[in-house]
Amino acid sequence: MADFANILTEEKNGLLYLTINREDKLNALNFDTLEELKSIFEEVVDNKAIKAVIITGAGEKAFVAGADISEIANLNEVNARKFAENGQEIFAMIENCHKPVIAVTNGFTLGGGCELAMACHMRIASANAKFGQPEVNLGIIPGYGGTQRLTILAGKGKAFELMMTGDMIGAEEAKNLGLVNHLLPTKAEAIAKAEEIIGKIMSKAPLAIGMIVDCVNAVYLSEENGYQTEANSFARCVKSGDYKEGTSAFLEKRKPVFKGE
Ligand code: COA
Repeated sequence: MADFANILTEEKNGLLYLTINREDKLNALNFDTLEELKSIFEEVVDNKAIKAVIITGAGEKAFVAGADISEIANLNEVNARKFAENGQEIFAMIENCHKPVIAVTNGFTLGGGCELAMACHMRIASANAKFGQPEVNLGIIPGYGGTQRLTILAGKGKAFELMMTGDMIGAEEAKNLGLVNHLLPTKAEAIAKAEEIIGKIMSKAPLAIGMIVDCVNAVYLSEENGYQTEANSFARCVKSGDYKEGTSAFLEKRKPVFKGE
């Protein structure tokens, strides 16, 4: 993986750690950082050696405190639409990635940061994490999918409240709402929890994991019949060597060794 100016990358045993690294700006997502995320996820999709991704923010104070406000202070109607569509496209790449992507959020997880975390398959927070969609304070709304994903994750009433007030909520409340899968005291423990979950997923059949991503995401696509997606994906699984390996291993009372084929 190439080096990037705003995102630290580290690969260990198939797990790619991404750290949004603009600590002095609370890891705010500027245009360049988003483009780097896009390049990284293009590689994640193609690179067989990468099996899972953890995204976190540099330092203890913030995961990501939103889109970079210095870059969005002078938008017009045309480039504002492009700004939103570009971010939505990149976050959709993350959501649709066939390899598990977990956000480990610490500190401020606001605006585009909350949207980035929600685009990941799971969120694990440390106790100091604070979530919110404060765009209304700037006279705008979430533009990177937040109106949709927050409603899906937290429910309509709470989504309205959070987006209309711009209020922040703590990690405990975020967990109670279902926005966060697990809550750990520190960032290091939150990363360890993400590694534990990813370790389990990495021992399963990779093609089946990818099919689960497609089927779960199909629930929210009005143009798609999720049950049909499920049946098609189920059928795709049985064409794989991993299906033969998984079923044979069970019958032979041994542990399966999946190859992702
Ligand atoms: N975009 C650009 N810069 C940001 C930023 C953002 N979203 N969030 C924080 N920063 C910058 C600040 O401008 C400041 O930079 P400076 O030191 O060059 O002045 C630095 O990060 C530290 O932030 P600061 O505001 O001093 O920290 P704080 O602890 O007092 O407050 C927040 C933290 C998160 C409450 C506050 O920074 C904030 O409200 N940020 C904007 C959140 C937001 O509206 N996000 C949605 C954007 S669409």
